[in-house]
Amino acid sequence: MNIIEIKNITHRFANGRSGLNNISMDIARGQFVVLAGANGSGKTTLLRHFNGLMTPQQGVIIVDGVNVADDPVRARRTIGMVFQDTDTQIVGETVYDEVAFGPENLCWPRSVVNKAVQTALDQMGLVHLSDQSPHLLSGGERRRLTIAGILAMNPSVLVFDEPFANLDYPGVRDVLRRIVALHQEGHTIVIAAHDLEKVIAHAQRLIILSKGCVAADGAPNELLPSVEDFDIRRPIELSFGHAVQSWLN
Ligand SMILES: Nc1ncnc2c1ncn2[C@@H]1O[C@H](COP(=O)(O)OP(=O)(O)O)[C@@H](O)[C@H]1O
Ligand SMILES: [Mg+2]
Repeated sequence: MNIIEIKNITHRFANGRSGLNNISMDIARGQFVVLAGANGSGKTTLLRHFNGLMTPQQGVIIVDGVNVADDPVRARRTIGMVFQDTDTQIVGETVYDEVAFGPENLCWPRSVVNKAVQTALDQMGLVHLSDQSPHLLSGGERRRLTIAGILAMNPSVLVFDEPFANLDYPGVRDVLRRIVALHQEGHTIVIAAHDLEKVIAHAQRLIILSKGCVAADGAPNELLPSVEDFDIRRPIELSFGHAVQSWLN
């Protein structure tokens, strides 16, 4: 069963520039997908179509059986988006308030909000920082905070746009470990990244965008040898004849 179905979508920006060109893909429930492509290939533009933040001039996006154009609010409940720029997303005075912000806007009862916040803080390893100001957190903690804020609204799909940008090595490992755990708990995961090495060992599927088109779509092991054709760096292990290594090992 596909949780996301994209059929022949085309997006042209107001200035006439082409963003997406006849893109189709289905994403199965529970799949771990990496969406790769050079800067400007259309990754962020495509992700913004998943939950109606952007609309195509042609084609349809179906989320959990419903056309996003007919019910974008439902699509936003199903798909949680963690954007690249964490700092602009943070509005709460404390870590707890920040995570409570989304569920409170859904008008859930207080007890349900509290439970959702506690669970999300726990999943992201932030319980001990509940009363801290978000501005005092490290980069990795802030990234985990934005993920917790999305998780608290209980989406079944989690979409991450460049989740490892600007993180140091421990920060990357910590965020990656938690994303992998969310996948094991049953979430569908889509990660957009311009570079593959941090995450590809965990992906079940690799979709490569180039100039707003799907250039390749398949098993990571089959596509990895030729990713440089699409201006994506090949993981270094492959040059030595090794399989790609998880950053969690
Ligand atoms: N609002 C916009 N107006 C015009 N062009 C845009 C706009 N947003 C993005 N683009 C262009 O669309 C292309 C794809 O951008 P984007 O989806 O951000 O790529 P990626 O996330 O893969 O780096 C780029 O050429 C970019 O310059
Ligand atoms: Mg982008």
